[in-house]
Amino acid sequence: MAYNLLKGKKGIIFGALDANSIAWKTAERIHEEGGQFVLTNAPIAMRMGQINDLAEKTGSQIIPADATSLEDLENLVEKSMEILGGKIDFVLHSIGMSVNVRKGRHYTDQNYDWTQKGWDVSAGSFHKTMQTLYKKDAMNEWGSIVALTYMAAQRVFPDYNDMADNKAYLESIARSFGYFFGKDKKVRVNTISQSPTPTTAGQGVKGFDGFIAYAEKMSPLGNATAEDCANYTVAMFSDLTKRVTLQNLFNDGGFSNMGVSDMVMDTFVNNQE
Ligand SMILES: NC(=O)c1ccc[n+]([C@@H]2O[C@H](COP(=O)([O-])OP(=O)(O)OC[C@H]3O[C@@H](n4cnc5c(N)ncnc54)[C@H](O)[C@@H]3O)[C@@H](O)[C@H]2O)c1
Repeated sequence: MAYNLLKGKKGIIFGALDANSIAWKTAERIHEEGGQFVLTNAPIAMRMGQINDLAEKTGSQIIPADATSLEDLENLVEKSMEILGGKIDFVLHSIGMSVNVRKGRHYTDQNYDWTQKGWDVSAGSFHKTMQTLYKKDAMNEWGSIVALTYMAAQRVFPDYNDMADNKAYLESIARSFGYFFGKDKKVRVNTISQSPTPTTAGQGVKGFDGFIAYAEKMSPLGNATAEDCANYTVAMFSDLTKRVTLQNLFNDGGFSNMGVSDMVMDTFVNNQE
């Protein structure tokens, strides 16, 4: 169902790679709600070509940008304002990547060049994006910025590797930059902490199938899907959440406040018999 919640709002969406991407689903929902946006992704992701389908479907233009490059981000923000005809109301940062995870390096045996690269892509890019928007005074008052995160920032999930540290850093940037964006420009900044979701980035985590099944059994409402995340993000971009800021918001079916569930306990007890 569409409610026209984002009618007249303009934004930038980072991170739509394919139809499974959380950013892809979010772009579709924002379009349904009347929002207009520019799509962006790393030049290497463009070569896969799928983002063109999304652009066509949503009447959007694509501007390639490596989110770790200030030059690319400056170009992105300037061109987006030209294309959209004014300042920006919403920004979705839906980017994550760990080279250590990709190359199967254990947390206790990191290649620190890779650690640094992963940090830059997954966390540093959020600061760089906001600093570019801030310096160019590119955000409208009562605008909203959201980045996606995972609960490994607070609790131990051993296979999440250095992404856990990147997410902790990302969430901290949301608070620290959110203060200045709020005070100086009346813009809110939040992170949405999403359930495990079957996407390219998600499935890169070792043991992902077990991970997602466990979370499903632990959560009273079950895992939040990419569509659920898209809906929550629409709400965060709408005028209905104007004074929600500096928050890490869990969209996880209740998982983050659980100790144990009957379903998980049953498995455990049965295995002992
Ligand atoms: N899938 C999950 O289980 C899960 C759970 C919680 C949070 N998240 C977070 O959601 C966000 C989106 O991930 P997803 O699950 O949709 O996977 P995805 O693989 O579809 O999206 C990740 C995106 O990051 C982009 N990216 C990588 N390097 C980049 C760079 N240098 N510049 C610009 N873009 C770059 C990729 O091209 C891709 O589009 C990430 O922050 C991820 O950590 C995912």
